[in-house]
Amino acid sequence: MHVQRPRGTSDILPGSVERWQELERVAREVFARYGYREIRTPVFEHTEVFERGVGETTDIVQKEMYTFTDRAGRSVTLRPEGTAGVIRAFVENKLYGQTGVAKLYYIGPMFRYEKPQKGRERQFHQYGCEVLGSDGPAIDAEVIALNVDTLTNFGLRGLVVELNSVGCPDCRPRHRERMLEALRPYAAELCDDCRSRLEKNPLRIFDCKRGCPAVLERAGAPTVLKSLCEACETHLSGVRAHLDALGVPYVINERLVRGLDYYTRTAWEVTSAGFGTVGGGGRYNRLVAELGGPDVPGIGFAVGMERAILLRQEQAGQDGAADRQAGLDVFVAVADSSAELPAARLLQALRQVGLVADRDYQGRGLKAQFKLADRMRARYAAVLGESEVTRGVVTVKDLTTGAQTELPVDRAAAELARVAGQSSGERKEQA
Ligand code: HAM
Repeated sequence: MHVQRPRGTSDILPGSVERWQELERVAREVFARYGYREIRTPVFEHTEVFERGVGETTDIVQKEMYTFTDRAGRSVTLRPEGTAGVIRAFVENKLYGQTGVAKLYYIGPMFRYEKPQKGRERQFHQYGCEVLGSDGPAIDAEVIALNVDTLTNFGLRGLVVELNSVGCPDCRPRHRERMLEALRPYAAELCDDCRSRLEKNPLRIFDCKRGCPAVLERAGAPTVLKSLCEACETHLSGVRAHLDALGVPYVINERLVRGLDYYTRTAWEVTSAGFGTVGGGGRYNRLVAELGGPDVPGIGFAVGMERAILLRQEQAGQDGAADRQAGLDVFVAVADSSAELPAARLLQALRQVGLVADRDYQGRGLKAQFKLADRMRARYAAVLGESEVTRGVVTVKDLTTGAQTELPVDRAAAELARVAGQSSGERKEQA
């Protein structure tokens, strides 16, 4: 029996999950500021969605998909990325019928059968967005700014936007010809994968991890940036002018190609020196039509959440320090078995007025319950024993000052909510 998690997956435990929650909260907040709304699509799709969407010549489709046949014999695939599913949903639900551009964001797990290493998992998480319906450069710059903004709001520093244009169906054939011409004499030096890519999708060779980019250098193969058509040139200048206007710094990296086939024109990655890529995206003007929709242009990005969290830990030098659980407002202590039900009632009342309250569930003696209250970092202890129950009161101890008072048990929750609210207000003012 397998009692360990599968390779390339993680358990996100209390103590680390707080970072995840923070990243998700920040992403949602920043997306909302830019006018995006959330979309949730299935974690699996018909395999064809990714074959057609992501592209047959990509590593993702060729080697990395979790594909299986379901019980009815259909081929389905765990999503390796978010874009193809979002576009499938956009087309299927006819979201293009609405006025203006569609601005959609998503957060969730993705699956790629890759060799696990630091920052690379088989189940990983992305947040990302897609904008459908505009092919102007203003939206490219806005989406790049948004990509960076989500990360800097999460506390990351020193990020670099690497920008490129991968051309369009008008200029790419010309580029392909020029590349083939330069590379043919060097074909024998390419790895098997790149030799087969040579005719189909030579751009991919820039992204080879097995030394083929050096062959490109030797062969003097041109980058797409040097072969752009006029329309792509104009678009790129527009994106650059808008990025300057927005105050988003970037560098041009003409060797940047992305691991997905759907991109046209703008493509970028957000990187950090010595760390690598945190996120990236690009424009895709033909994907919607490719997936059976109308001719609507799109652009988007995705951030690898494991990587964003890793990078923040590295930058903060925290080597993964666990977050402590937030402390309790009130710990309810049971000093006598006759107080069991009144204590349960009080605990429920405390939670219902909005306080964070808890108790011991393992039959500890009173002294051990106070130790537990301390470990749970409680502000107040509410003690119920035989005498309190008989008199209809509860003993409330302020665990910071040691001061002790009695309150009528049926008013205790409201009274504690009032003082706990006041003291958390004071704490905030002091901070
Ligand atoms: P991608 O570059 O394949 O783009 O992935 C985006 C980010 O996801 C990467 O920069 C990386 O941080 C993270 N990532 C990818 N694979 C893994 C992995 N195995 N483990 C951990 N993190 C990983 C896309 O997925 C496109 N859908 C982005 C996009 C949206 N383009 C247009 N719209």
